[in-house]
Amino acid sequence: MTIKPGAYPWGNHPNAWRPNHIHFSLFGDYFGSRLVTQMYFPGDPLLELDSIYQGILEHARHRLVSRFSIDTTQENYGLGYEFDIVLRGPDQTPTE
Ligand SMILES: [Fe+2]
Repeated sequence: MTIKPGAYPWGNHPNAWRPNHIHFSLFGDYFGSRLVTQMYFPGDPLLELDSIYQGILEHARHRLVSRFSIDTTQENYGLGYEFDIVLRGPDQTPTE
């Protein structure tokens, strides 16, 4: 559980802003099996302008966007989003 992050400027080009995102870093059995990725939020208008997100193969970008979930949303407390991380295979989560 965390607060939803905001966009931030990053100086990659004039008026460049990173979309709202959360970094994930997962470790397997050894250090070399580390997976680092970013989770984005649906409907963020900055996604189409972000060179990191746009650098992911088009057919795989949707795997980095979470899904709003009313089932995990907690009444009077916070919104819930679901994000699946796939470590291996054709549906593997894109990495940084
Ligand atoms: Fe970041």
